[in-house]
Amino acid sequence: MEISTQALFPTPVWTARFDDFVEFNQRLLSAIHDLRQQLPEGVANTNVNGWQSPNDLQLREPFNEINARIMQICQHIGHACGYTSQAEYRYQAWANINTPGAFNNPHIHPNSHLSGVYYVSAPDDCGSIYFRDPRQLSLMSPPPLQSTNELTATEAAMPAEDGRIYVFPAWLEHGVQPNRSKAERIGISFNVQVVPAPLR
Ligand SMILES: [Fe+2]
Repeated sequence: MEISTQALFPTPVWTARFDDFVEFNQRLLSAIHDLRQQLPEGVANTNVNGWQSPNDLQLREPFNEINARIMQICQHIGHACGYTSQAEYRYQAWANINTPGAFNNPHIHPNSHLSGVYYVSAPDDCGSIYFRDPRQLSLMSPPPLQSTNELTATEAAMPAEDGRIYVFPAWLEHGVQPNRSKAERIGISFNVQVVPAPLR
């Protein structure tokens, strides 16, 4: 008898790494530093000890290319998930600079369908993004475990890496570990809300 395992209701995290990230990120980095000079106060959000831009990168020309790439990936995901091809993708993005010691508390992104992050500068030990098991009912009575694996883990970390993008369902609770490096972790975060196209 062979016993097989099937994963029902999997929780996806999509990822890719841009081939040209070295040169691409240099340009993004200077665009982010320019924006920080213009808006040194930033906005307060889930980041602790860091700087966050307003969530309007989708309106700023220096970010046109990253915006287009993210949108393309999200549309690919939407297609894979079976979203209607008539849907409109409403996209918002913002930049984060997390100084040494900075972290992001666990949170979700309400009123969105897809969320994610693209790493512009991710030095070693700058803090991984981590996700929490969304299946709250599974926490009702934890079994005694000798070790955890993908069937029993309640938290999963994915490493920050220059040029890598992660996209995940906006309802998936996530946070960022403290930046234990001596340099800034710089990324662009985004939300996509997918709405039915208006009737004509
Ligand atoms: Fe987030």
